[in-house]
Amino acid sequence: MKQEVIEQLEGYGDIVREIEIARKYGRDFTGEKGSVKSFIDRLHPKQIAMRVSEIIDETVSTRTFRLVGTRGPLPPFQAGQYVSVSVEVDRIKTSRAYSIASAPCETGYFDLTVRRMEKGLVSNFLLDRIEVGDSLVCSGPKGTFHHNPIIHDDTLVLLAGGSGITPLMSMIRDTVARGLNRTLYLLYGNRSVDDIIFHEELLQIADRHPNFHYLPVVEHPAADYQGKTGYITADLIRETVGEISGKSFFICGPQAMYNFCLPELKKLNVPGRKIRKEMFGTPINIWEYPGWPAGVKPDNPCRISVNGSHGLESVSAQSILVTLEKNGLVIPSTCRSGKCSMCRVKILSGSVFQPQGTPVRKSDRQFGYVHACVSYPLEDLEILI
Ligand SMILES: Cc1cc2nc3c(=O)[nH]c(=O)nc-3n(C[C@H](O)[C@H](O)[C@H](O)COP(=O)(O)OP(=O)(O)OC[C@H]3O[C@@H](n4cnc5c(N)ncnc54)[C@H](O)[C@@H]3O)c2cc1C
Ligand code: FES
Repeated sequence: MKQEVIEQLEGYGDIVREIEIARKYGRDFTGEKGSVKSFIDRLHPKQIAMRVSEIIDETVSTRTFRLVGTRGPLPPFQAGQYVSVSVEVDRIKTSRAYSIASAPCETGYFDLTVRRMEKGLVSNFLLDRIEVGDSLVCSGPKGTFHHNPIIHDDTLVLLAGGSGITPLMSMIRDTVARGLNRTLYLLYGNRSVDDIIFHEELLQIADRHPNFHYLPVVEHPAADYQGKTGYITADLIRETVGEISGKSFFICGPQAMYNFCLPELKKLNVPGRKIRKEMFGTPINIWEYPGWPAGVKPDNPCRISVNGSHGLESVSAQSILVTLEKNGLVIPSTCRSGKCSMCRVKILSGSVFQPQGTPVRKSDRQFGYVHACVSYPLEDLEILI
């Protein structure tokens, strides 16, 4: 546009005056272009390139992978958050969530403590094939399973089962390392004493810090075991923590633990808003979940047609996400437990089973979107990704 035409535009004079004032008294931001984005990217990176600097054997079936960043400092996180580790195993590109077990104040590394899962694709890959010096790619820290001083009490009751100790361990380490004014009770259930992860460290912390109370609970103890045995019951919780009011409850462990512990907390009249749960992985034996249609067998064959293509072979017990990944189709996924919404796909035809309580947004439900990680085909499907 010609200069004389521009000068006739309404408001031209005002803009020129403002530019003059800004030049005289203001700050020139042109040199800082992109700095806000790079600052935000550093705090909330989509991906982090990591290197395994150390591997620590915790139990027979559990190892800690100490990961350091290969491209600058690691982003901050809240004790209790997780990262999603991307891997390629036997030509399947996939990812799994692992909680950061180290404390946020240990800024140089993330500790991921991984327990072997029978026939599990990624846990076995990490435990058997990853060595010191290997590279791994993770997401930035994610998740809302952390203490929030505005809404949570300063006395926390932590209920852990098996590898579910990891996010709680980060909270415990954070509390003692920073000398936070919090009281923590940890009731930690395991099958045997040998399965207890971080047992020695937890005993030492309890010994040194009067605000940390540790109660291991063992399901199958040796004959001479002196500690608590069985399960984490309402009576045991009451006996350990005393008064229930004024305390926030954080639970993390396998599905069986929620099935058992949530009714126990109900017996103690713990309000739902005082209970924080971390879902710890994809459902196992989905056909045993409440609501699974009686006539549908786990190996019921189904075809999933994606974006109009010919169908991918699947079975009812295999989630849509796993079917896609097994066929080389990678869609975004982070939690793989139905919570983060990253893996949404649209169902055009056919029906799926989703476990009760899967948090699907109202608008998603209305327009036929589901979370692929926790949606199981009950018949042939047509989907859009
Ligand atoms: C927020 C979050 C944090 C977590 N933090 C940790 C942590 O700190 N440490 C840790 O060890 N774990 C953690 N997990 C669990 C972890 O993400 C994985 O779920 C776990 O390692 C198992 O993954 P996998 O690939 O070995 O098993 P998968 O291959 O995913 O299999 C899981 C189980 O399902 C069965 N299965 C798989 N496919 C099928 C199928 N098609 N049909 C029937 N059954 C099938 C397998 O036999 C196995 O028993 C976390 C999960 C979440 C969501
Ligand atoms: S990956 Fe988080 S909801 Fe599916």
